[in-house]
Amino acid sequence: MGFCMWVLLFLPLFLWSSVGEKGIGRGSVPTERIAGSAGDVLEDNPVGKLKVYVYELPSKYNKKVLQKDPRCLTHMFAAEIFMHQFLLSSPVRTLNPSEADWFYTPVYTTCDLAPNGLPLPFKSPRMMRSAIQLISTKWPYWNRTEGADHFFLVPHDFGACFHYQEEKAIKRGILPLLQRATLVQTFGQRNHVCLNEGSITIPPYAPPEKMQSHLIPPDTPRSIFVYFRGLFYDVNNDPEGGYYARGARASIWENFKNNPLFDISTDHPTTYYEDMQRSIFCLCPLGWAPWSPRLVEAVIFGCIPVIIADDIVLPFADAIPWEEIGVFVAEKDVPYLDTILTSIPVEVVLRKQRLLANPSMKQAMLFPQPAQPRDAFHQILNGLARKLPHGKKIFLKPGQKILNWTAGPVGDMKPW
Ligand SMILES: *[C@@H]1O[C@H](CO)[C@@H](O)[C@H](O)[C@H]1NC(C)=O
Ligand SMILES: *[C@@H]1O[C@H](CO)[C@@H](O)[C@H](O)[C@H]1NC(C)=O
Repeated sequence: MGFCMWVLLFLPLFLWSSVGEKGIGRGSVPTERIAGSAGDVLEDNPVGKLKVYVYELPSKYNKKVLQKDPRCLTHMFAAEIFMHQFLLSSPVRTLNPSEADWFYTPVYTTCDLAPNGLPLPFKSPRMMRSAIQLISTKWPYWNRTEGADHFFLVPHDFGACFHYQEEKAIKRGILPLLQRATLVQTFGQRNHVCLNEGSITIPPYAPPEKMQSHLIPPDTPRSIFVYFRGLFYDVNNDPEGGYYARGARASIWENFKNNPLFDISTDHPTTYYEDMQRSIFCLCPLGWAPWSPRLVEAVIFGCIPVIIADDIVLPFADAIPWEEIGVFVAEKDVPYLDTILTSIPVEVVLRKQRLLANPSMKQAMLFPQPAQPRDAFHQILNGLARKLPHGKKIFLKPGQKILNWTAGPVGDMKPW
């Protein structure tokens, strides 16, 4: 479809934009019930379906780490900290480990930020090993299953591979001691060594109150067709080009920088959140890793996410009907983005916008303080509950050992 035809189609979209959201998590607007098996489970209440035992660790594994750098509370990896706080007062918590379905180890392995705020994963493996050593000697539960009924928050770029460069992350692989545990992580890509089957993929942490404070009147027209702010090239880390975002972001820029339908740039305006609420489509291309906070922002601000990240595993993919709310574009098809997006029938766009306006969808993307029903904390618990009951075969025979405590890089063996 050509540009002119699309302009004709813009009009009904403007009229329809009043269908937008009225506030995070409490829309009084005509939202659409998410039909079918997937979306319905977003409404589930995990209370009564599982019991979680929270190990009590010395504060050097959690509280002290946070005291050293409070920026960890607003960082996109903050789920690791808030999940701990949430569980401490959650009704699913049990103080009796013998009745627990799941064991949780509160260790903040990603709270080590460089002065510029970038998280450094170098100490994480040793810290994690140290915590597991401690729980496996102090309590009998680890040795029973070697972690198969334990879950860990590992929100780092490549999860428990603990490196921000993909090649190095792949080379490291998932920390050997975590091979049997359930990993709750932001990283999600099919057939990747850093994603174990049975892991729970979660959204990155995005500050709920800050986003709430940028909401604009819901009847504001969505006058921007495609919106994106962020890097197209990473000249420092990828001087030759083509490696960063596997070239997809470079291709977006090269093909559409002069296209009037595309509002794209590297500037990060103060009106970023408002602009997303004025946009119909928000590009969510991969960067170094396939995931980014844009996905959360797009859902919160009702902007249809255009997901460009082949093989991405999206947050709570068994509960959120991503295929219905988003648009998926293969990395190789980026040069045809304009045609692909302008060819989507208006009814389809409107339906996606209505689904996005569903408060359950937004709530599932957030880690609010205090927690609220159906939020991301509850979706994590729902994911854990759906893995129950544990099969008998997770329990090892007396004397049986599967994990190798000395496997992994020599540097990881140093005490923490
Ligand atoms: C668990 O196994 C390890 C190594 O096999 C052992 O050192 C530790 O004492 C055991 N833990 C308990 C609580 O028995
Ligand atoms: C454990 O891993 C180390 C280091 O890779 C290796 O040398 C050792 O043979 C492994 N042990 C077992 C029992 O597989």
